[in-house]
Amino acid sequence: MRNSQTSAMAAARRELAYEVISGGSGLLLALFMWGHVVLVGSILTGERGFDWMATMLEDYYIAQPTVFVIFTLFLVHAVFAARKIPSQLRERKQILQLAKGLSQSGREKVVTRTEYSPFRPHVESLLWIWQVRTGMIMLVLGSFHLVLLGIDIFTPLYGDIAGIEASTSTARVSAGLWLPYAVLLLCVEFHASVGLYRLAIKWGADLWLSRKTMHRLEQVIFWVVLVLGGVTLIVLAGWMDPPLAFLLDGTST
Ligand code: HEM
Repeated sequence: MRNSQTSAMAAARRELAYEVISGGSGLLLALFMWGHVVLVGSILTGERGFDWMATMLEDYYIAQPTVFVIFTLFLVHAVFAARKIPSQLRERKQILQLAKGLSQSGREKVVTRTEYSPFRPHVESLLWIWQVRTGMIMLVLGSFHLVLLGIDIFTPLYGDIAGIEASTSTARVSAGLWLPYAVLLLCVEFHASVGLYRLAIKWGADLWLSRKTMHRLEQVIFWVVLVLGGVTLIVLAGWMDPPLAFLLDGTST
């Protein structure tokens, strides 16, 4: 009896540690992505602004370790969050059935701990299923992107020097990388904003903020970052001139 209690306690502690690791790494990655959208968004001021930003981050040895730290966090998050993904084919089939059923469920409201949920019943479960799907896409496309950027930063394989340059970034995006980047951007923004919403609920934020407010916040973050990232991608692909180029007009750097 005592033995089974001790092992149940140990299992519960282990599960809590896994939750903290997957939630903490997810939170750090989401914070990084907000910084990322601002840093890559420097292309909105033109190639000079982007090159200044990249050179500064490399000269002060910020970019180099960041690639390793982010890649490690990315993999740690994937491994710990993936423990909840059904691994058997039969379970996967059940999930597909469940997703179909959930997307067609009715519109009646459900009572939650503190109030009515702003979502249709089961929409939160459907969001979780899309968390898993976008996570799998991100694992493939994000790993490719991180390896590409690692090679770019540490070797002179792309462009004239070892390091990120506006000319090579815009060349590869306009040559076709805009498509995987567009998919990655959509997945990252969905995954991060829904992930933060779910994390906040899990750790009790709905005791202070209503779910409705948190859902609105999640929507605002999703759209602001998606639009900013989308415009950045359009400028990188060369389909639009940098809209903030006037900010650097007349400067000598
Ligand atoms: C330290 C790590 C990272 C660095 C240095 C970095 C740097 C860059 C650079 C320079 C670009 C411009 C395009 C290019 O040069 O290919 C870019 C674009 C992009 N990156 Fe990253 N990146 C990092 C991590 C990530 C991660 C972890 C993700 C998501 C999983 C991500 C998602 C994207 C997306 C979606 C774009 C397209 C442009 C946009 O809409 O913002 N990046 N990144």
